[in-house]
Order: sequence, then structure tokens, then C-alpha cells
Amino acid sequence: MKKYVLFVLALAAGLLFIRASYSVAESPAKTTPVATGLDIPENVQAVIDNSCYGCHYSESKNEKGKKKLMFDKLDELSRVKLIGKLTGIADVIASGDMPPKKVLVDHPDMALTDETAKTLTDWATEKANGLMD
Ligand code: HEC
Repeated sequence: MKKYVLFVLALAAGLLFIRASYSVAESPAKTTPVATGLDIPENVQAVIDNSCYGCHYSESKNEKGKKKLMFDKLDELSRVKLIGKLTGIADVIASGDMPPKKVLVDHPDMALTDETAKTLTDWATEKANGLMD
């Protein structure tokens, strides 16, 4: 039993090592913006405009939101960072964290519906998966 545990630990350590060296190999991309071919179809753009854009673009007054995500600057990110942002978008929608509940009190029209949530999530997930190939 003990041997088995050690084996599993060694395997996990090995996997971590492989992942670590993989990210190192990827690191040049972090400083070099790459052309990602990111396109935002109109129906997705409409959802972003309605529910997210005000807080998440380069001229936004929402400093915190802007710091986390700028939709108009996505194409300037490296591939690795872009995958992170796209995955993050899908995550905050799945958890219901965005748009923030606070803003919905005064602006209920900004809320995502099942349909718009799916539109945005499907786009982000599909783009992220495409970039991981
Ligand atoms: C009223 C302003 C506002 C709106 C609208 C809004 N956000 Fe945010 N968003 C924020 C703020 C502020 C933060 C930073 C929260 C923090 O640091 O805790 C944030 C953070 C995020 C993050 C990063 C989360 C993290 O944990 O790093 C993502 C991704 C995100 N928003 C996506 C979206 C999407 C997608 C929409 C539209 C469906 C949206 N936001 C709408 C203000 C907003």
C-alpha cells in the first residue's frame, strides 16, 4: 500500500514537472502578442455590449473590472493569456458572478438570460478550445 502511495506521488510530481516545463516552453508567447484570429460574431458582441462591455473595456471607469478584462484588447493578448481570459469568462457566467448582482439592482436589463449566457459561454469555450489545439 505504502509503495502504491509513493508511486502515485511520484507520478503526480512527474506530471507537475512536465506541465512546468511546458509552460516554460510557452513563455515567449506571454510577452509577444500573437495574432489569434479572434473574431467576435455580432450576436456575441450584442451580449457583451449589453451585459459586460461597460465595465470591461479600455476606457471604462470601472478600474477593477478593466484590470481583469478588456474586451477591446483581447486580440492584444498572447495565446496563453487569451485562453485564460476566455476560460474565465465561461467560469464567471457559470457561477453567476457576472454581471455583478449589485449592478443588476439598478440595471436589470443587463442580466444574462439563459440564451445570452449560452451564446457567450459557447463562444468563449469554443475559442479557448480552438486556441489549445
Ligand atoms: C458593473 C460592472 C461589471 C459588469 C457589467 C461586468 N463585470 Fe466582470 N468584473 C467587474 C469587476 C469590478 C470585476 C473584478 C472583481 C474582483 O476583482 O473581485 C470583474 C471581474 C470579471 C472577471 C474576472 C474574474 C476573476 O475572478 O478574475 C471576468 C472574467 C469578468 N468580470 C467577466 C465579465 C463578463 C463576461 C461580464 C458580462 C456577462 C461582466 N464581467 C460584466 C465588473 C463588471
